[in-house]
Amino acid sequence: MMKLLGVNGSMSNKSRTLVLVKQVLDVAGEQGASTTLLNLSDYPLPIFAPQADYSENEVVLEVQRLVEEADALIVGTPEYHACMSGATKNFFDFLYRQISGKLFGLVAASGGGNGASAFTNLRATVLCCHGWVMPYNVGATGTDFDKEGQLVNSRVDERLRRMARDLIVYGPLLHQQFQDDLAQPADAPPGFAHWIG
Ligand SMILES: Cc1cc2nc3c(=O)[nH]c(=O)nc-3n(C[C@H](O)[C@H](O)[C@H](O)COP(=O)(O)O)c2cc1C
Repeated sequence: MMKLLGVNGSMSNKSRTLVLVKQVLDVAGEQGASTTLLNLSDYPLPIFAPQADYSENEVVLEVQRLVEEADALIVGTPEYHACMSGATKNFFDFLYRQISGKLFGLVAASGGGNGASAFTNLRATVLCCHGWVMPYNVGATGTDFDKEGQLVNSRVDERLRRMARDLIVYGPLLHQQFQDDLAQPADAPPGFAHWIG
């Protein structure tokens, strides 16, 4: 069974981003995936400092373990000042090897915009860590939700469902090939897995 991890990078207790991430996880679960939610407000990571020793920090270790165990991820961020949120970026600063070779779906909640600016730097961050990114994103604005915070735009919902399906299908293929590549003998033609292997 493929393992899909959903990450919410909003610290809000009424997070619209969380609604988007949960919907992808729910649909993926209905289609047979094993799903886990990593809501960053429940995992108080310290602000990353390169000189710090996090080897006994339980939150850091748990977050790294959850990402390590995933075959693919759905990452959601609120758009903050035309970027991903600080919490989302700080999450990525604790990770590298756990991301490499895995497929990421990206979703974002924004105010007036469409999340395009947040997607640009979120996508760059995943690629920088040698992760794959789905060739489309799913953004939602304030008017896509009702007063209770429920998603009411069926076109956004349709894209979230598509995202869940594609993560389940393509995620394990890419992850398995990356693991096979890591196990290749040293004299095999080198692929990008050899950079971290
Ligand atoms: C500090 C801050 C910066 C924001 N910057 C933007 C922005 O650049 N563009 C935009 O469309 N919305 C912006 N917003 C609105 C949020 O993206 C919007 O409220 C979103 O729903 C937040 O996601 P959440 O509900 O998951 O916390 C900003 C909100 C805050 C608090």
